[in-house]
Amino acid sequence: MTASMLDSAIPGVQVLRPYSPGKPLSELEREYGISDAVKLASNENPLGPSVAVLDALRGGFDALARYPDGNGFDLKAALAERHTVTTDQVTLGNGSNDVLELVARAFLSPQTSAVFSAHAFAVYPIVTQAIGAQARVAPAGDGRRGPAFGHDLDAMREQVDADTRVVFIANPNNPTGTWLPGAALRAFIEAMPENLVVVIDEAYFEYVDEADYPDTSQWLDDFPNLLVTRTFSKAFGLASLRIGYGISQPGLADVLNRVRQPFNVNSFAQLAACAALEDSDHLARAIKVNRAGMAQLTNGFDSLGLSYIPSVGNFISVDVGRDPGEVYEALLHEGVIVRPVDNYGMPGYLRISIGLEDENRRCLEALGKVLA
Ligand SMILES: Cc1ncc(COP(=O)(O)O)c(C=O)c1O
Repeated sequence: MTASMLDSAIPGVQVLRPYSPGKPLSELEREYGISDAVKLASNENPLGPSVAVLDALRGGFDALARYPDGNGFDLKAALAERHTVTTDQVTLGNGSNDVLELVARAFLSPQTSAVFSAHAFAVYPIVTQAIGAQARVAPAGDGRRGPAFGHDLDAMREQVDADTRVVFIANPNNPTGTWLPGAALRAFIEAMPENLVVVIDEAYFEYVDEADYPDTSQWLDDFPNLLVTRTFSKAFGLASLRIGYGISQPGLADVLNRVRQPFNVNSFAQLAACAALEDSDHLARAIKVNRAGMAQLTNGFDSLGLSYIPSVGNFISVDVGRDPGEVYEALLHEGVIVRPVDNYGMPGYLRISIGLEDENRRCLEALGKVLA
């Protein structure tokens, strides 16, 4: 794009930096002449989808020339049953990112603001500024007020003013892996005005095993302004199909539905998601592999003398103690892709997704070599 086209964009877009995805495996292998690289950069499920999902996908080919079910009848029914809600409370998205964008499009304007935390998921500033709305960023926790690097709910409350229409909270948050307990989160939502949408982004919900970690989908009856988002990209292993959803009271879902593109979720994604919901064994395996991999990586970091932010997700941010850009590059030469998070205001840190045992071992060996 020429400079003059950028000058014509709305001010919020002019200052945006595009979302930077992890380097694809194929690109690394091509550039560095490597054949067995491992990618631990995008918080994907290293097991991939279940056999049941692959079988279900075969059923989609006959209808390839048809538009998908724009109302997502079967998937909404399955999700409604799972969450004990009605189908008119479910909003399907092309990934949960799509649902986050629907919220911004429906509720934000250049006259209003969205509140989120420092180090919060990168899509919150993108969807906010793309509308031209003001992004009000609360300072992160310090270990006393909110978890270190995590969300400080008091600081977030202080950022909310009469113009705020959306608050984004990731629980747990990416890339910090920090999480908020139920009582504090509920008190926060109770304190919010009803004309403001509180988004609780639970993309990593399935991985969390903390006693105080809330399932906020259980609170929907109490809050007309609460939207809970979930995804099939992580624990369910369907990242490439792009499928996520929001659940809320019907009034909020109706608003989101008005700005949704007619066929935003393709038929393969709908088939796969239905099959994935039924395969609880595969989900349990994914959670088990993640737990073992998290222990493997944190033990490895301890042995290397590296500090890290304790994480309840399927990734962990580690302080490499020197220029993370250099460490990232050196790891690429070892065939290991991770993610620098300086764009999240976390200089010095690399985020590493939990992989299979061998992949984690490769990563730790490469880190040890690069940092020696
Ligand atoms: C906190 C958080 N929310 C939402 C998403 C979006 O995931 P998807 O659009 O694949 O559902 C991600 C993906 O990395 C995430 O980390």
